[in-house]
Amino acid sequence: MAFPESFIKELTERNDINEVVSAYVRLTKKSGNNMFGLCPFHSEKSPSFSVSNDKQIYHCFGCGKGGSVINFIMEIENLSYPDAVRFLARRVGMAVPEDEKDVNFSRRERMLQLNRDAARYFYEQLSAPNAEDARQYIIKRDISPAMVTRFGLGFAPDSWDSLVFAMQQKGYTKPELLDAGLAKASKKGNGGIYDTFRNRLMFPVIDIRGSVIGFSGRILGDGEPKYMNSPETLVFSKSHNLFAMNLAKKSKMGYIILSEGNIDVVAMHQAGIDCAVASLGTSLTPEQARLISRYVGEVVIAYDGDAAGQKASQRAILILQQLDIKVRVLRMSGAKDPDEYIKKFGAAAFENLLKRSESHIEYRLADIASKYELSSDESRVAFIKEATGLIASLPSTVEREVYSRKTAEMARLSGDTVITEVERIRKRILGQARKKQDSESSRPAHLTQPRGKNLRFDNIKSAAAEKGVIRLLYYEPSLFNEKAQLSEEDFSSPLLAKFYTQLKERIIFGAQPSLALLAENFTSDEISILTEILNEPTELSQSERALDDYIKIIKTEKLKRHSGDGESPDLNEIANKMRESKGYGG
Ligand code: CTP
Ligand code: MN
Repeated sequence: MAFPESFIKELTERNDINEVVSAYVRLTKKSGNNMFGLCPFHSEKSPSFSVSNDKQIYHCFGCGKGGSVINFIMEIENLSYPDAVRFLARRVGMAVPEDEKDVNFSRRERMLQLNRDAARYFYEQLSAPNAEDARQYIIKRDISPAMVTRFGLGFAPDSWDSLVFAMQQKGYTKPELLDAGLAKASKKGNGGIYDTFRNRLMFPVIDIRGSVIGFSGRILGDGEPKYMNSPETLVFSKSHNLFAMNLAKKSKMGYIILSEGNIDVVAMHQAGIDCAVASLGTSLTPEQARLISRYVGEVVIAYDGDAAGQKASQRAILILQQLDIKVRVLRMSGAKDPDEYIKKFGAAAFENLLKRSESHIEYRLADIASKYELSSDESRVAFIKEATGLIASLPSTVEREVYSRKTAEMARLSGDTVITEVERIRKRILGQARKKQDSESSRPAHLTQPRGKNLRFDNIKSAAAEKGVIRLLYYEPSLFNEKAQLSEEDFSSPLLAKFYTQLKERIIFGAQPSLALLAENFTSDEISILTEILNEPTELSQSERALDDYIKIIKTEKLKRHSGDGESPDLNEIANKMRESKGYGG
């Protein structure tokens, strides 16, 4: 689907990249025409994320991501190109021309509408005469009416087709109900459909923009499966969303509590702890962690105390640490989960527990210790080995010392012995890291190769010239008169060739083409590479000569390629080739 170029042009003009980015990133440092801030796409401590006012592009010197304002929204809001365009259009109150051709857009909007209508239906059913069991269950679980409203809880009646029927009355079709995961096709093959969720307490899953994207249905009481979730649909992905994130993102608590069950989440919110979320039946995914990291830098894990919960905690810790999110782990004794804990000991006790929750290092040390008996010398040595490995990875000297002493105590050794051992291991790790870095930066190709794994340039010399051409084409389109034409075959890199032709196609009357227009035809990695190219300094006063030089290099390299082995061809050979190609062969 393509939007008219004039529309995209106006859209990008009205959505100033500085303003758009500022809603997500604090741009603190100014340097020339660029503003800098901490990159929202990777974790860093000093700002390498730049926004260029005159070029209207962003580029991170750390992770290499970059592009136009549209790419930024695609990346940060996790939207497709057309949805990012719509997002920006809505932002400045522009009407999007003719959406009808885009099947997916209207399908998405329609599915969200259906989900919202279904949520309303489930909510209303809660007061129906045949919802007595559901009401009793809510009372039994101590869920207050205020929470029922806040979470929009509902009831899917014990019937095969009540939702299907109600939604069909509202004009939704069978395929729409099936696509949204609210109905299933009858096995009889007679084209019939039936309700996916039956006789369950319904939790709408609401995304951070406030749209109902799917549902979790909990059985009333015991039984299997305890939870049933919407399948993956056009608007719902389990791995990208968290239950109650729409509420928790507004919390002032400064961290997020990660729990397993929806009831736990409701119980915590009811106790005034409004930063609790739950994943939707999977263990924590990197995408969910990234979602969290947009709002807070700290997570408290409050999984069940059983073996499965412990294992899930370990995995979650690793994922969260990779994003530099501080992790604490809640240990509940006397209750299996937050809901039970709050019911048994009260909200205040739970808050106390939260305050005392262990840093993940303590948690992991305790976990390592539990594997070893610590009674035999052998097991103490094994424990120390594993524990010192963990501690050595901590960047803070103070932390290393504190945990070394703690470990020493646990294994009944002197603190100094453990500290010495930790520092020895640390030196070794740092040495290895340095070696790796040295060998990487001594490779000359290192800096000129794009970061994406599948996008390496075969001919670096030609690629450099090709990039130069692209830069000039972008900033000085008027240079590209008939003399200075290149064809795709002249390029050594297919990707650079594609940039070239697409840019050229978009030069209208010598005006600078817009990066935003290209977003649709390239992946975000590719656009990042293009941005990097455009962000390199260009000496425009020498541009005509530079272009000549670039073209010369590109043509020479092309000849080398075609002469087979990449060896420098001699001049006769070049002359021959040129004669051949002009048809005076002989
Ligand atoms: N789960 C799920 N889908 C959800 C939420 C949870 O499949 N949308 C799964 C989790 O992966 C976990 C279990 O259900 O295995 C959570 O159970 P639990 O914490 O016991 O759920 P609660 O609703 O808190 O129920 P209970 O009162 O029994 O604790
Ligand atoms: Mn629970």
